[in-house]
Amino acid sequence: MEPTNLKGRSLLTWLDYSEMEIRYLLDLSKQVKAENQRGEIHQRFTGKTIALLFEKRSTRTRCAFETAVGEEGGHPVFLSTADIQLGAKESVEDTARVLGRMFDAIQFRGFKQSTVEILAAYSGVPVYNGLTDRFHPTQVLADIQTLEENFGSIQGRKICFVGDGRNNVARSLMVICSKLGIHFSVVTPARLNPDPDLIKVCTILAESSGAQLRITEDLQEVKGADALYTDVWVSMGEEAQKEERLRLLRPYQVNQSLMDKTGRKDTIFLHCLPAVKGEEVTPEVIDGPQSRAWDEAENRKHTIKAILLATLSLI
Ligand code: CP
Ligand code: NVA
Repeated sequence: MEPTNLKGRSLLTWLDYSEMEIRYLLDLSKQVKAENQRGEIHQRFTGKTIALLFEKRSTRTRCAFETAVGEEGGHPVFLSTADIQLGAKESVEDTARVLGRMFDAIQFRGFKQSTVEILAAYSGVPVYNGLTDRFHPTQVLADIQTLEENFGSIQGRKICFVGDGRNNVARSLMVICSKLGIHFSVVTPARLNPDPDLIKVCTILAESSGAQLRITEDLQEVKGADALYTDVWVSMGEEAQKEERLRLLRPYQVNQSLMDKTGRKDTIFLHCLPAVKGEEVTPEVIDGPQSRAWDEAENRKHTIKAILLATLSLI
């Protein structure tokens, strides 16, 4: 078998990656996490620079990129839209060309998926999607790592995403689970179903990986789930829809009674964070014994380090 070579690749969505490539990144992430836990010091990013572009706020994604690169001798440069032009006085294409001449890689968090696509097309360096309205790929690699740490395997496991089924995290989970043979259910009011085009693509992927993909309003779907996953009801940039979301999603709160509906004591709770405790999840669940939200947050750093090492060909 050919060794997996991801040199020079961008990560805009997992749709662009094969199951084998994702598996390689999960294994590499496990390796860098183990190194970290053993207290090993590596300097694999020495002399490397990465531009971190943010149109939206971030705690985990920014800190994961900064610490992953910084602790191994690299230099991350944080640039918010208050600092640079990016589409304001200068086109995204031109910003991409300039940053590509100076940096080894670029991370982008913002609104449009097309922005991260343009950065990748024009910069000539690897570009990573740190969240757009459409996808949040680096997040869900950490989610799958957390699932695997808990159960020792991922194939045939069942994740139920309960909440806003059309958001970036739900869509990204749908893609990665369909690729990896993980059963994935979106439990959401019909008004918030993921877009039919993506469902169609993922259904084809799921058929070939053996994953079952279900979209339903019915909370009974959580029965037997290995993991219940939720995310905020109002994503960044959608604040105007707050009232409607709260009304639609109130019955879909992940509370202990819903956790118990799985019929399993070992079901884990996942949340990408930040969480609005008391809305999409109760404090007793997210701060309780079944929650793995904090491992999941830590895994953001290890998975992002693995993605950078592989795509910058430093390992
Ligand atoms: N999960 C996540 O992306 O968190 P931040 O918004 O804090 O980066
Ligand atoms: N769906 C959320 C994820 C935050 C990490 C948002 O886009 O705000």
